[in-house]
Amino acid sequence: HGGTVVSATGSQPLDVLVDGETIVAVLQPGATALGADLTGTAEVVIDATGKYVIPGGVDGHTHMQMPFGGTEASDTFETGTRAAAWGGTTTIVDFVVQKPGERVQDTLGAWHQKAAGKCAVDYGFHQIIGEVNDESLKGMSELVSEGVTSFKLFMAYPGVFYSTDGQILRAMQSAGDLGALLMMHAENGIAIDVLVEQAIARGDTAPYFHGTSRPWQLEEEATHRAIMLAQVTGAPLYVVHVSAKQALEQIATARGNGQNVFGESCPQYLYLSLEEQLGAPGFEGAKWVCSTPLRSRAEGHQDELWRYLRTGDVTAVSTDHCPFCMKDQKEMGIGDFSKIPNGIGGVEHRMDLMFQGVKSGQISLERWVEVCCTTPARMFGMYPRKGVISPGADADIVIYDPNGHTSIGLGKTHHMNMDYSAYEGFEIDGHVDTVLSRGRVVIDDGKYLGSAGHGRFVKRELSQNLI
Ligand code: URP
Ligand code: ZN
Ligand code: ZN
Ligand code: ZN
Repeated sequence: HGGTVVSATGSQPLDVLVDGETIVAVLQPGATALGADLTGTAEVVIDATGKYVIPGGVDGHTHMQMPFGGTEASDTFETGTRAAAWGGTTTIVDFVVQKPGERVQDTLGAWHQKAAGKCAVDYGFHQIIGEVNDESLKGMSELVSEGVTSFKLFMAYPGVFYSTDGQILRAMQSAGDLGALLMMHAENGIAIDVLVEQAIARGDTAPYFHGTSRPWQLEEEATHRAIMLAQVTGAPLYVVHVSAKQALEQIATARGNGQNVFGESCPQYLYLSLEEQLGAPGFEGAKWVCSTPLRSRAEGHQDELWRYLRTGDVTAVSTDHCPFCMKDQKEMGIGDFSKIPNGIGGVEHRMDLMFQGVKSGQISLERWVEVCCTTPARMFGMYPRKGVISPGADADIVIYDPNGHTSIGLGKTHHMNMDYSAYEGFEIDGHVDTVLSRGRVVIDDGKYLGSAGHGRFVKRELSQNLI
């Protein structure tokens, strides 16, 4: 009661009436709903005066306990979804991993077992196809009927997840036939592996050389190739974790031509840079080893990403939350950056970090909600259950205090299972005050009131964001 409800299309003072797990009315303050005045008859009234009332965040790209490089991402579904709740994210879409030799249907079952009964907030799954073959392609339609309606392929990581162009083409044909979204890790992994090998042979083994051995040209090239293959097959394409401005230019051109191509970026690419990684002492640069890599600020990638966020060519902002501790995990790469597990944890900070773009005038308040909540929900077939404050929607609601303050870092607002923060020392104008997940208050001004197992699997529809 008393807050400003922000949606992708506008903001106005409105009250929100919740019954059980669902929003049942959105009404002018003082108006009556279902024959009753909200403030007079509601069992619980939450005062949101002076605050924004927004849909719960939808993070469309996380990797809880993901197996990678001989280790596993350090957040479990339990710790990672709890951290998400703290940060105002009430739905995640995580990745099921198929490795060569496994059946995709079996891997989905295994991931259901990892997540069931553990999550603090709701969750869906994408499927990583690590081996495109007849069996995997057949499995795709089965997965769609089970609510897993998007599939990620890799043009990077030869020998691990990598798909050849022929395999990509076949998977895109299947996705096109099903109307399912094809997600692409677009980096030319074959060329990158040569540069990596050469760097190590030269003795350039420090974390910074992870970035320099993955130049933007190899992101642009792969992005272009993925777009062309998608065009041939008719598959809708969602390019994940874009960091190079040239890759976004490719995406913008394809979108301008009316192709169903979408760009995703992440706070690390908007806020952090290769220069800062270079400036980090010793092995500290490993904290920011992720793929695609952080890009040079001098080359202007970050500014361009913000611009593309305004034009709509960056369609959604996710975290690509893939946390590893420095101790025993990132440290595996001391003396050889190629052995550093790739990934940055940030599921807890996305709403706050992106709100800084509102504060600094780079995006509007409504665009903040659009890229963090509404579009991811539509993109991944969860709208209008998720991503909007509207009668009939799940009561996933965040009360955000624009005048509050949040200090990011270890020992501060940090509930992720990581022994460092990629955003250590960031001071945020704004604060997640209250979070409701399907009607239940899970965060209440600094207190966690949720529980493992409250979060449920979301069976997703096909993307609702296509042309
Ligand atoms: O470095 C990253 N992005 N790790 C997570 C896996 C992926 O490619 O998204
Ligand atoms: Zn990736
Ligand atoms: Zn990822
Ligand atoms: Zn506060």
